Amino acid sequence: MSKRLENKKILITAAGQGIGKATAIAFHNEGAKVFATDINEETLKTLKQEYPNIDVYKLDSTNKSAVEEYCSQLTTIDVLFNAVGFVHHGTILDCDEKDWDFSFDVNIKSMYFMTKAILPKMKKQNKGSIINVSSIASSLKGLPNRFVYGTTKAAIIGFTKSIASDFLKNNIRCNAIAPGTVHTPSWEGRVQAADNPEQAKKDFIARQPMGRLGTAEEIATLAIYLASDESDFVTGITHSIDGGMSI
Ligand SMILES: NC(=O)c1ccc[n+]([C@@H]2O[C@H](COP(=O)([O-])OP(=O)(O)OC[C@H]3O[C@@H](n4cnc5c(N)ncnc54)[C@H](O)[C@@H]3O)[C@@H](O)[C@H]2O)c1
Repeated sequence: MSKRLENKKILITAAGQGIGKATAIAFHNEGAKVFATDINEETLKTLKQEYPNIDVYKLDSTNKSAVEEYCSQLTTIDVLFNAVGFVHHGTILDCDEKDWDFSFDVNIKSMYFMTKAILPKMKKQNKGSIINVSSIASSLKGLPNRFVYGTTKAAIIGFTKSIASDFLKNNIRCNAIAPGTVHTPSWEGRVQAADNPEQAKKDFIARQPMGRLGTAEEIATLAIYLASDESDFVTGITHSIDGGMSI
């Protein structure tokens, strides 16, 4: 049986853990050649031990020259999966200028650097798929204490539509994924950082209409579709995957 991503070269950011890691593994299992990047060398080492055929590279996606240097030596890239993200907790009153700048750098500037470095390669081959990880907390839904996070994730939706529109004629598609709450290491971290972790866990689950969190593997399944030629007629769309949160 043929695999859905056979012969595709795929570059992934934030592949060390959570959604990025699950997606790197899912793409690999579907036959793609995966280039997995992350700022965290330790988690990448683990990924390499588990999946020796996945290429790993320590890359800070907010570092313009590092991004340009790494991407320049990649020949073709068929799919770019932009997953880097950071959740700042709080309202506008809790968000200092440095918090604002940090969230914008990590959540959207990183995506700008990565996409700008890879898009010319896709243009040359007249085909490509770019997948950006946004969130339900964005222009789709206002959630408490997600002020700057939701602002950056809304920017990703505009970014996605602009790229989709500008490069449609080049056969380059650009879509976003907007997950609800997903069980990942950073979610665990948010729970543990709360004043009452048990209550925080219950609250996170309570806001999910299906009464459970999503899994990183469920998000990866949608990513496979958007990376594959099966979605060749799909561009500029934000695909919610949220257990009913946005109904
Ligand atoms: N977990 C959720 O509930 C959830 C919900 C909606 C959207 N998202 C989004 O999904 C994406 C992945 O989230 P997650 O919870 O799976 O991840 P996570 O927070 O568990 O992991 C994030 C990864 O990003 C890496 N990273 C951080 N800064 C980086 C940088 N500058 N350059 C390169 N790598 C960097 C980290 O080392 C880590 O491996 C994020 O964009 C997040 O906002 C997550």
